[in-house]
Amino acid sequence: RKSAPNAEDIRAMKGGAPIVSLTAYTTPMAQIMDEHCDFVLVGDSVGMVMHGLTSTLAVTMEMMILHGQAVARGLRSAMMVIDMPFASYEEGPAQAFRNAARLMAETGAAAVKLEGGVEMAETIRFLVARGIPVMAHIGLTPQSVNTLGGYKVQGRDEAASRVLADAHAIADAGAFAVVLEKLPASLSDQITAEIAIPTIGIGASVGCDGQVLVVDDMLGFFTAFKPKFVKRYADLGTQAEAAIAEYAAEVRARSFPAPEHQFADQAPVGKGTAA
Ligand code: KIV
Ligand code: NA
Repeated sequence: RKSAPNAEDIRAMKGGAPIVSLTAYTTPMAQIMDEHCDFVLVGDSVGMVMHGLTSTLAVTMEMMILHGQAVARGLRSAMMVIDMPFASYEEGPAQAFRNAARLMAETGAAAVKLEGGVEMAETIRFLVARGIPVMAHIGLTPQSVNTLGGYKVQGRDEAASRVLADAHAIADAGAFAVVLEKLPASLSDQITAEIAIPTIGIGASVGCDGQVLVVDDMLGFFTAFKPKFVKRYADLGTQAEAAIAEYAAEVRARSFPAPEHQFADQAPVGKGTAA
C-alpha cells in the first residue's frame, strides 16, 4: 500500500477483510509493524508498558505527544490513532476538542481514541462535527478501573444491555470505529452485527471486524502480568535477558570486547577513521 488509510477508509472496512492493529510507542517498533498494520494505536497503555505506572490514570498529554511524535516518524503505510489520556476530555466537548486538536496537530495523528459510551456520545458528536475523527472504546475501559472495581470482564448478564446501548450511542454520534475490550464473545458478535462501524476486538471475539493487541504483550516484553486475551507470539523479554546476562559474563571475563570490536593504531588501508 502506498499511502496510509484514513478514518473513512477504516470505516469502509466494516464487514470486509479483518482490520489489523497493534499499539506502538517508539519509532523502531512503529517501523517494524508499519507494513503489517492498517492502523497503529499510540495507546495510553504506554504508561504501564514503558513507564512502569500501575494504571493508565497518570498518563499525561505530554507523554502522549512525545510518544506520538516518535511513532509518527516510524509510519508510512499505516494510519496512526492516538489515545486521549485520562482527564483530557471528560470535562466536556470544549476541553475534549482543545486536547484532541493539540494531539493531532503536534503528532500528526489522523484520529483520536477516547474511552466511554453513552456518556461520551455528545463529546464524540462535537469532535466529529469539527473535523476530528474519533475511535471509541467501550467494555472494559481501563481509565475507569477505580469505578469498575478492577480489570474485570464487562457486559455479562444484565450488564449486556448497557454495553449494547454504549455501542449504539457512539456509532450514532459518528465514531468511525470502536474498540471492544474484555467482553463476552457472543455480546461482541451481537454488537458487530448491530452497528454500522467496525469493531476492533481486544479480549472480545474472533468475529470482530478487526483486532488489536498491546505490542509488548504479544512480543513477551511486558511480563508483569498476562491477561487471558493476550497471545504471546514471541518471548523477547526472555531473549533480551539472556543476551544481557551473556554480555555481563563476557565483560567480567574480559572476553568482550574482542579484537574485532577494538581499533588499531593505524586505519586499515583504504578505510576511513571509522574502521
Ligand atoms: O492503550 C491501549 O493500549 C489501548 C488498547 C488496548 C486498545 O487502548
Ligand atoms: Na488505551
